[in-house]
Amino acid sequence: MSGLAGRDVVSIADLSVEEIQHILSVAATMVPAARGEEQRPLLQGRILAELFFEPSTRTRMSFESAMKRLGGQVINFGEISNTSVVKGETLADTVRMIESYSDALVVRHPNEGSARLAADFTDRPVINAGDGAGQHPTQTLLDIFTITQAKGKVAGTNVLILGDLKYGRTVHSLAVALSRFGASLTFVSPPSLEMPEEIVEACRAEYAGGNGGSVTLGTTLEDHIADADVLYVTRIQKERFPDPEEYRRVASTYRVDLELLSKAKGSCAVLHPLPRLDEIDPEIDQSGHALYFQQAFNGVPVRMALLALLLGALP
Ligand code: CP
Repeated sequence: MSGLAGRDVVSIADLSVEEIQHILSVAATMVPAARGEEQRPLLQGRILAELFFEPSTRTRMSFESAMKRLGGQVINFGEISNTSVVKGETLADTVRMIESYSDALVVRHPNEGSARLAADFTDRPVINAGDGAGQHPTQTLLDIFTITQAKGKVAGTNVLILGDLKYGRTVHSLAVALSRFGASLTFVSPPSLEMPEEIVEACRAEYAGGNGGSVTLGTTLEDHIADADVLYVTRIQKERFPDPEEYRRVASTYRVDLELLSKAKGSCAVLHPLPRLDEIDPEIDQSGHALYFQQAFNGVPVRMALLALLLGALP
Protein backbone atom coordinates (compact mmCIF):
# COMPACT_ATOMS: atom_id res chain seq x y z
CA MET A 1 0.00 0.00 0.00
CA SER A 2 1.21 3.53 -0.74
CA GLY A 3 -0.23 4.93 2.50
CA LEU A 4 -1.99 7.70 0.58
CA ALA A 5 -5.56 6.55 1.29
CA GLY A 6 -7.44 9.07 3.43
CA ARG A 7 -4.62 11.67 3.37
CA ASP A 8 -4.89 15.42 2.77
CA VAL A 9 -2.80 17.18 0.12
CA VAL A 10 -2.60 20.77 1.32
CA SER A 11 1.08 21.52 0.69
CA ILE A 12 3.50 19.77 -1.65
CA ALA A 13 5.52 19.08 1.52
CA ASP A 14 2.70 16.74 2.59
CA LEU A 15 4.06 14.27 0.00
CA SER A 16 7.45 12.56 0.01
CA VAL A 17 9.49 12.29 -3.20
CA GLU A 18 8.60 8.58 -3.30
CA GLU A 19 4.88 9.34 -2.92
CA ILE A 20 5.04 11.93 -5.73
CA GLN A 21 6.81 9.37 -7.93
CA HIS A 22 4.12 6.80 -7.13
CA ILE A 23 1.28 9.25 -7.96
CA LEU A 24 2.95 10.11 -11.26
CA SER A 25 3.56 6.47 -12.19
CA VAL A 26 -0.14 5.77 -11.58
CA ALA A 27 -0.98 8.91 -13.60
CA ALA A 28 0.91 7.48 -16.58
CA THR A 29 -1.44 4.46 -16.54
CA MET A 30 -4.46 6.81 -16.48
CA VAL A 31 -3.66 8.60 -19.75
CA PRO A 32 -5.79 6.37 -22.04
CA ALA A 33 -8.79 6.66 -19.68
CA ALA A 34 -8.21 10.42 -19.38
CA ARG A 35 -8.54 10.56 -23.17
CA GLY A 36 -11.71 8.44 -23.07
CA GLU A 37 -10.00 5.56 -24.86
CA GLU A 38 -10.59 3.03 -22.06
CA GLN A 39 -12.81 2.66 -19.00
CA ARG A 40 -11.44 2.81 -15.42
CA PRO A 41 -14.59 2.89 -13.22
CA LEU A 42 -12.56 2.84 -9.99
CA LEU A 43 -14.63 5.46 -8.16
CA GLN A 44 -18.16 4.42 -9.04
CA GLY A 45 -20.54 5.52 -6.28
CA ARG A 46 -18.05 8.03 -4.85
CA ILE A 47 -18.67 11.78 -4.71
CA LEU A 48 -16.14 14.61 -4.94
CA ALA A 49 -17.17 18.01 -3.53
CA GLU A 50 -15.65 21.14 -5.08
CA LEU A 51 -15.53 24.25 -2.91
CA PHE A 52 -14.22 26.98 -5.21
CA PHE A 53 -14.28 30.41 -3.59
CA GLU A 54 -12.18 31.79 -6.48
CA PRO A 55 -12.49 31.45 -10.26
CA SER A 56 -10.89 28.50 -12.03
CA THR A 57 -11.07 26.87 -15.44
CA ARG A 58 -8.37 24.18 -15.53
CA THR A 59 -8.19 23.00 -11.93
CA ARG A 60 -11.93 22.81 -11.48
CA MET A 61 -12.79 21.23 -14.81
CA SER A 62 -9.87 18.78 -14.80
CA PHE A 63 -10.88 17.58 -11.31
CA GLU A 64 -14.43 17.14 -12.62
CA SER A 65 -13.20 15.32 -15.71
CA ALA A 66 -10.90 13.14 -13.59
CA MET A 67 -13.68 12.14 -11.18
CA LYS A 68 -16.14 11.42 -14.01
CA ARG A 69 -13.56 9.47 -16.05
CA LEU A 70 -13.21 7.24 -12.95
CA GLY A 71 -16.98 6.69 -12.79
CA GLY A 72 -17.53 9.03 -9.82
CA GLN A 73 -19.70 12.10 -9.40
CA VAL A 74 -19.04 15.74 -8.54
CA ILE A 75 -21.02 18.25 -6.51
CA ASN A 76 -20.10 21.91 -6.30
CA PHE A 77 -21.21 25.30 -5.13
CA GLY A 78 -22.08 26.73 -8.50
CA GLU A 79 -22.12 30.49 -8.01
CA ILE A 80 -20.98 31.53 -4.52
CA SER A 81 -23.82 34.09 -4.59
CA ASN A 82 -26.29 31.17 -4.48
CA THR A 83 -24.77 29.65 -1.31
CA SER A 84 -25.00 30.37 2.39
CA VAL A 85 -21.44 31.71 2.26
CA VAL A 86 -23.02 35.07 1.38
CA LYS A 87 -25.05 34.86 4.62
CA GLY A 88 -21.75 34.68 6.51
CA GLU A 89 -21.39 30.91 7.08
CA THR A 90 -17.81 30.11 8.08
CA LEU A 91 -15.48 27.87 6.09
CA ALA A 92 -15.34 25.49 9.06
CA ASP A 93 -19.14 25.06 9.15
CA THR A 94 -19.29 24.82 5.36
CA VAL A 95 -16.76 21.99 5.44
CA ARG A 96 -18.62 20.22 8.28
CA MET A 97 -21.77 20.18 6.12
CA ILE A 98 -20.17 19.18 2.88
CA GLU A 99 -18.18 16.30 4.34
CA SER A 100 -21.50 14.56 4.99
CA TYR A 101 -22.44 14.94 1.31
CA SER A 102 -19.18 13.65 -0.20
CA ASP A 103 -16.11 11.40 0.04
CA ALA A 104 -13.40 14.02 -0.63
CA LEU A 105 -13.21 17.80 -0.86
CA VAL A 106 -11.28 20.06 -3.22
CA VAL A 107 -10.87 23.62 -1.91
CA ARG A 108 -9.77 26.79 -3.68
CA HIS A 109 -9.83 29.94 -1.59
CA PRO A 110 -8.29 33.44 -1.72
CA ASN A 111 -6.86 33.15 1.81
CA GLU A 112 -3.55 31.42 2.45
CA GLY A 113 -4.00 28.63 4.99
CA SER A 114 -7.68 28.07 4.17
CA ALA A 115 -7.20 24.54 2.83
CA ARG A 116 -5.31 23.59 6.00
CA LEU A 117 -8.16 25.02 8.06
CA ALA A 118 -10.67 23.03 5.99
CA ALA A 119 -8.64 19.86 6.57
CA ASP A 120 -8.77 20.47 10.32
CA PHE A 121 -12.58 20.27 10.24
CA THR A 122 -13.08 17.01 8.35
CA ASP A 123 -11.71 13.49 8.28
CA ARG A 124 -12.37 13.29 4.54
CA PRO A 125 -9.35 13.90 2.26
CA VAL A 126 -8.93 17.62 1.51
CA ILE A 127 -7.05 18.68 -1.62
CA ASN A 128 -5.77 22.23 -1.87
CA ALA A 129 -6.65 23.62 -5.30
CA GLY A 130 -4.87 26.91 -4.53
CA ASP A 131 -4.95 29.02 -1.33
CA GLY A 132 -4.22 32.68 -1.97
CA ALA A 133 -0.52 33.22 -2.62
CA GLY A 134 0.28 30.01 -0.74
CA GLN A 135 0.43 26.65 -2.49
CA HIS A 136 -1.07 24.78 -5.45
CA PRO A 137 0.23 21.24 -4.95
CA THR A 138 -1.78 19.42 -7.64
CA GLN A 139 -0.49 21.92 -10.22
CA THR A 140 3.00 20.92 -9.11
CA LEU A 141 2.21 17.23 -9.61
CA LEU A 142 1.11 17.84 -13.19
CA ASP A 143 4.06 20.18 -13.81
CA ILE A 144 6.52 17.49 -12.72
CA PHE A 145 4.63 14.91 -14.80
CA THR A 146 4.99 17.22 -17.84
CA ILE A 147 8.70 17.90 -17.23
CA THR A 148 9.32 14.16 -16.88
CA GLN A 149 7.47 13.47 -20.15
CA ALA A 150 9.53 16.14 -21.94
CA LYS A 151 12.96 15.54 -20.42
CA GLY A 152 12.82 11.92 -19.25
CA LYS A 153 13.86 12.98 -15.74
CA VAL A 154 13.76 15.91 -13.31
CA ALA A 155 17.12 15.51 -11.55
CA GLY A 156 19.81 17.58 -13.26
CA THR A 157 17.30 19.60 -15.30
CA ASN A 158 17.83 23.38 -15.41
CA VAL A 159 14.49 25.07 -14.77
CA LEU A 160 14.20 28.84 -15.23
CA ILE A 161 11.14 30.14 -13.38
CA LEU A 162 9.96 33.53 -14.65
CA GLY A 163 7.31 35.98 -13.56
CA ASP A 164 5.40 36.88 -10.44
CA LEU A 165 7.26 34.73 -7.95
CA LYS A 166 5.94 36.68 -4.96
CA TYR A 167 2.23 36.00 -5.39
CA GLY A 168 2.37 32.96 -7.72
CA ARG A 169 1.30 29.96 -5.67
CA THR A 170 2.11 27.50 -8.45
CA VAL A 171 5.80 28.41 -8.33
CA HIS A 172 5.96 28.25 -4.53
CA SER A 173 4.93 24.58 -4.60
CA LEU A 174 6.92 23.82 -7.73
CA ALA A 175 10.24 25.30 -6.59
CA VAL A 176 10.22 23.31 -3.36
CA ALA A 177 9.34 20.07 -5.16
CA LEU A 178 11.92 20.55 -7.93
CA SER A 179 14.66 21.23 -5.39
CA ARG A 180 13.77 17.96 -3.65
CA PHE A 181 14.07 16.14 -6.99
CA GLY A 182 17.53 17.63 -7.66
CA ALA A 183 16.61 20.03 -10.49
CA SER A 184 18.60 23.29 -10.63
CA LEU A 185 16.53 26.45 -10.37
CA THR A 186 16.96 30.01 -11.61
CA PHE A 187 14.43 32.62 -10.50
CA VAL A 188 13.84 35.73 -12.63
CA SER A 189 11.12 38.25 -11.76
CA PRO A 190 10.32 41.95 -11.84
CA PRO A 191 12.22 43.56 -8.90
CA SER A 192 9.25 43.80 -6.51
CA LEU A 193 8.00 40.27 -7.21
CA GLU A 194 10.93 38.09 -6.14
CA MET A 195 10.53 34.58 -4.77
CA PRO A 196 9.78 34.76 -1.01
CA GLU A 197 12.87 34.22 1.13
CA GLU A 198 11.34 31.22 2.92
CA ILE A 199 10.91 29.39 -0.40
CA VAL A 200 14.50 30.19 -1.45
CA GLU A 201 15.70 28.94 1.94
CA ALA A 202 13.61 25.76 1.65
CA CYS A 203 15.27 25.06 -1.73
CA ARG A 204 18.75 25.77 -0.34
CA ALA A 205 18.06 23.38 2.54
CA GLU A 206 17.25 20.61 0.04
CA TYR A 207 20.42 21.30 -1.96
CA ALA A 208 22.50 21.31 1.22
CA GLY A 209 21.74 17.58 1.40
CA GLY A 210 23.90 17.19 -1.73
CA ASN A 211 21.35 16.17 -4.38
CA GLY A 212 23.33 17.96 -7.08
CA GLY A 213 20.99 20.89 -7.67
CA SER A 214 21.45 24.59 -7.00
CA VAL A 215 19.43 27.79 -6.88
CA THR A 216 20.35 31.03 -8.68
CA LEU A 217 18.65 34.36 -8.14
CA GLY A 218 18.75 35.75 -11.67
CA THR A 219 18.33 39.30 -12.86
CA THR A 220 17.53 39.29 -16.55
CA LEU A 221 15.97 36.58 -18.66
CA GLU A 222 18.54 37.09 -21.44
CA ASP A 223 21.39 36.19 -19.05
CA HIS A 224 19.94 32.75 -18.26
CA ILE A 225 17.79 31.62 -21.18
CA ALA A 226 20.63 29.78 -22.97
CA ASP A 227 21.08 27.34 -20.03
CA ALA A 228 17.40 26.53 -19.52
CA ASP A 229 16.04 23.05 -20.24
CA VAL A 230 12.65 24.25 -19.08
CA LEU A 231 11.30 27.81 -19.03
CA TYR A 232 8.36 28.00 -16.61
CA VAL A 233 6.47 31.25 -17.19
CA THR A 234 3.81 32.72 -14.91
CA ARG A 235 1.29 35.52 -15.13
CA ILE A 236 1.42 38.60 -12.91
CA GLN A 237 -1.22 37.79 -10.28
CA LYS A 238 -3.23 41.00 -10.60
CA GLU A 239 -5.89 39.79 -8.13
CA ARG A 240 -3.33 39.56 -5.28
CA PHE A 241 -1.98 43.13 -5.51
CA PRO A 242 -3.09 45.29 -2.60
CA ASP A 243 -2.26 48.40 -4.66
CA PRO A 244 -3.54 48.61 -8.28
CA GLU A 245 -0.85 51.22 -9.01
CA GLU A 246 1.85 48.68 -8.11
CA TYR A 247 0.27 46.24 -10.57
CA ARG A 248 0.32 48.84 -13.34
CA ARG A 249 4.04 49.43 -12.71
CA VAL A 250 4.99 45.77 -13.21
CA ALA A 251 2.43 44.64 -15.81
CA SER A 252 3.93 43.82 -19.22
CA THR A 253 7.55 44.00 -17.99
CA TYR A 254 8.44 40.66 -19.61
CA ARG A 255 7.30 38.72 -22.66
CA VAL A 256 8.54 35.45 -24.11
CA ASP A 257 8.61 35.41 -27.91
CA LEU A 258 10.39 33.58 -30.71
CA GLU A 259 13.21 36.12 -30.76
CA LEU A 260 13.98 35.37 -27.11
CA LEU A 261 13.70 31.62 -27.70
CA SER A 262 16.18 31.86 -30.59
CA LYS A 263 18.78 32.27 -27.79
CA ALA A 264 17.51 29.14 -25.99
CA LYS A 265 18.29 25.48 -26.58
CA GLY A 266 16.19 24.05 -29.40
CA SER A 267 14.89 21.53 -26.87
CA CYS A 268 13.91 24.15 -24.26
CA ALA A 269 10.36 23.36 -23.13
CA VAL A 270 8.08 26.29 -22.27
CA LEU A 271 5.54 25.59 -19.55
CA HIS A 272 2.89 27.87 -18.04
CA PRO A 273 0.19 26.95 -15.52
CA LEU A 274 -2.22 29.19 -17.48
CA PRO A 275 -4.18 31.36 -17.87
CA ARG A 276 -1.69 33.53 -19.77
CA LEU A 277 -2.13 37.16 -20.62
CA ASP A 278 0.65 38.85 -22.63
CA GLU A 279 3.64 37.05 -21.14
CA ILE A 280 3.84 34.40 -23.89
CA ASP A 281 3.48 35.46 -27.50
CA PRO A 282 0.90 33.17 -29.21
CA GLU A 283 3.45 32.67 -32.02
CA ILE A 284 5.16 30.21 -29.64
CA ASP A 285 2.07 27.98 -29.53
CA GLN A 286 2.94 26.36 -32.86
CA SER A 287 6.64 25.98 -32.07
CA GLY A 288 8.16 22.82 -30.63
CA HIS A 289 8.85 24.75 -27.40
CA ALA A 290 5.22 25.06 -26.26
CA LEU A 291 4.08 22.42 -23.77
CA TYR A 292 1.45 24.41 -21.86
CA PHE A 293 -1.61 22.88 -23.51
CA GLN A 294 -0.23 19.37 -23.02
CA GLN A 295 0.50 20.43 -19.42
CA ALA A 296 -3.16 21.49 -18.97
CA PHE A 297 -4.37 18.10 -20.31
CA ASN A 298 -2.00 16.33 -17.91
CA GLY A 299 -4.11 17.71 -15.07
CA VAL A 300 -6.67 15.02 -15.86
CA PRO A 301 -4.57 11.81 -15.55
CA VAL A 302 -2.62 13.26 -12.61
CA ARG A 303 -5.80 14.18 -10.72
CA MET A 304 -7.32 10.79 -11.62
CA ALA A 305 -4.33 9.10 -10.01
CA LEU A 306 -4.48 11.31 -6.93
CA LEU A 307 -8.22 10.79 -6.42
CA ALA A 308 -7.96 7.01 -6.90
CA LEU A 309 -5.11 6.83 -4.36
CA LEU A 310 -6.59 9.19 -1.74
CA LEU A 311 -9.93 7.39 -1.95
CA GLY A 312 -8.26 4.01 -1.52
CA ALA A 313 -9.26 2.60 -4.92
CA LEU A 314 -5.63 1.80 -5.75
CA PRO A 315 -2.74 0.75 -3.48
N1 CP B 1 -3.53 26.53 -13.48
C1 CP B 1 -4.64 26.90 -12.82
O1 CP B 1 -4.74 26.84 -11.58
O2 CP B 1 -5.64 27.35 -13.65
P1 CP B 1 -7.09 27.74 -13.17
O3 CP B 1 -6.98 28.97 -12.32
O4 CP B 1 -7.89 27.97 -14.42
O5 CP B 1 -7.64 26.59 -12.35
